[in-house]
Amino acid sequence: MTTITTNVNLALERLEQGDVVAIPTETVYGLAADATNETAIKKIFSIKRRPLNHPLIMHVCHDWDLSQWVTDIPEYAQQMILAFWPGPLTLVLNSKEKAVSPLVNGGQNSIAIRAPQHDLTQQILRQLNRPLVAPSANPFGQVSPTTALHVATSFPNEDFLILDGGRCDVGIESSIIQATHQNGYSVLRPGMIGLQTIESKFGKQRSVNTSTPRVSGQLDSHYKPQKKLYYTDNWLRLDNDSPLLSGEMYTISISDHIPKNKNLHHQLPNDERMVAYQLYDTLRYADQSKADVIVIELPPNEIKWHAIREKIIKAGQRIDSESLHN
Ligand code: TXA
Ligand code: MG
Repeated sequence: MTTITTNVNLALERLEQGDVVAIPTETVYGLAADATNETAIKKIFSIKRRPLNHPLIMHVCHDWDLSQWVTDIPEYAQQMILAFWPGPLTLVLNSKEKAVSPLVNGGQNSIAIRAPQHDLTQQILRQLNRPLVAPSANPFGQVSPTTALHVATSFPNEDFLILDGGRCDVGIESSIIQATHQNGYSVLRPGMIGLQTIESKFGKQRSVNTSTPRVSGQLDSHYKPQKKLYYTDNWLRLDNDSPLLSGEMYTISISDHIPKNKNLHHQLPNDERMVAYQLYDTLRYADQSKADVIVIELPPNEIKWHAIREKIIKAGQRIDSESLHN
């Protein structure tokens, strides 16, 4: 069984011993290990059942000298660090040869780095004085955790420490920006530091090459609950066209929608930050309900909803007559 604690020193001790510890960050909980300890890093992959070729994010303090790991930091990336660290922004930078274990960056010549904004995790990083690698603390492909209890329920048969830092403020994973080119960046994974904010400060992004580097957030299927999840942008059609789905539905709406079954329904606030904060928790709650399937509303195709839409589309399947009949 996992153990939940608020004792930072205990967490630190475990990390120093080469154990994994689930840590709170402002985005989601991470399953952390000392980035310089390969045996410890391997435990993350085996606990998460994550393929070994999916690189990890290295977590640092915002004022650490990155030149020990990276060859260069483009001027715009330095400005991004000043603007957003500590905070929910990951930068993929050109890594120095042999600066990190290939288990960290998948043997690529780049490395993903972020400085999380959570007091307990910052205390750990400062005292450890070494970076931590930490993927989201969920089995590979499943819904990410935003509370210590989510982590515990995701890993009922594991035995590691979970440092409880309360509920995550942001609620979805960091924005990942590729900053390996001097003359421009691209967004590899949208997050709550939105494209609008980034482009208004740093100009338009370069076009993205999706084949390299490897970003597991780019897999088509991710963030999945256990029950079948469908999404719709048209409740009216769904209600009128019933029964499109057999079995009971748990509905999650963002716009005003009067559900057929109020007991199997959650109304999210029509605000992208609030939806990010509640999304994973709501999916987990719906998963535990007696419904057979979950249907969630896809927010409008507007830039501010970009990150939320990406999570929903990767976690679910569009509900329309075509997709249901094959
Ligand atoms: O908010 C977050 O970023 C959370 C918290 C725990 O910090 N972490 C997180 O880690 O989301 P994970 O492992 O679930 O997602 C890390 C993403 C993956 O999609 C991975 O492929 C990508 O970062 N990544 C890691 N190193 C990379 C690299 N060198 N180039 C491109 N993508 C990289
Ligand atoms: Mg993840």
